[in-house]
Amino acid sequence: MITCENVSYRYPNGQGIHSVNLTIPDRCVYLLAGMNGSGKSTLLKVLAGGLKEYDGTITMNGEDVRQLRTKQKRLFTISLSPQQPEKQFSLPTVKDELRFTAKVTKKPVDTELESHILNLLQLRSYLDVSPFDLPPVKRKLLSLAIAAVIPAPFIALDEPTAGIDREHKPLVLQFIRFLFIHKGVIVVSHDIDTFLPLSTHIGIMSEGKITVSTDKRTFLNKYLEGHYGAELTRPFIIPRLANLLVNQPAGSVDELAAIINKNNENK
Ligand SMILES: Nc1ncnc2c1ncn2[C@@H]1O[C@H](COP(=O)(O)OP(=O)(O)O)[C@@H](O)[C@H]1O
Ligand SMILES: [Mg+2]
Repeated sequence: MITCENVSYRYPNGQGIHSVNLTIPDRCVYLLAGMNGSGKSTLLKVLAGGLKEYDGTITMNGEDVRQLRTKQKRLFTISLSPQQPEKQFSLPTVKDELRFTAKVTKKPVDTELESHILNLLQLRSYLDVSPFDLPPVKRKLLSLAIAAVIPAPFIALDEPTAGIDREHKPLVLQFIRFLFIHKGVIVVSHDIDTFLPLSTHIGIMSEGKITVSTDKRTFLNKYLEGHYGAELTRPFIIPRLANLLVNQPAGSVDELAAIINKNNENK
């Protein structure tokens, strides 16, 4: 379990995230939604150890991650697939990129896991290609693969379907279902219609703060009861859920989930 207690991070221009409190369970698909600029990517970078000068406390299984901060251990807490994958590549081949973490941490490569990820994301035939020669869709898939071969108990995926075409989107969804069997998955996405059915937990950010963080059932029950003020959920959840509910007022969470799933299948 990961907890954030009053976690804040400020860029030099004063923007950032403010007093974030949340809990992410060991096995989950935690969908983090929010408007552009609300702080989602910043929160993922802080969680994954990329932005170190934060205030507040992040714990994993009760242990302060600051204590886990020697490089090797840090890599095994939360791996991150960033929003813009091209910035992360620096090595000659796809295979080098995939094995980089194993190399620097002097761990054996988990070839079974690597092989499974390569199959799921259809990257096997690109192993000896330069990441810079990959088409943009494949670069994004490689970024997902690199994060997934790191044996961390949590993985954070920043906009995993951004730039992914219709043909490859099912691969990403299968990939996330596979990850969910093994670890906690944090997904930042604007594509609520796609990820709400997959998710187990919902977080919403607004202006650098977490305004909602709960399990999906509680979220949907409270939503149906009109518990959330429009300002909390307006950016994403309400219009899309409202669209799904047009002409089909759902009486229960299960009915609502069925409508959402059906809508998803029809796409
Ligand atoms: N490198 C940076 N330097 C300064 N400000 C930044 C930087 N990255 C993001 N920000 C600002 O921090 C806020 C949160 O950004 P971000 O975490 O990227 O939001 P989101 O991922 O939800 O779109 C925004 O106001 C953004 O302009
Ligand atoms: Mg972002």
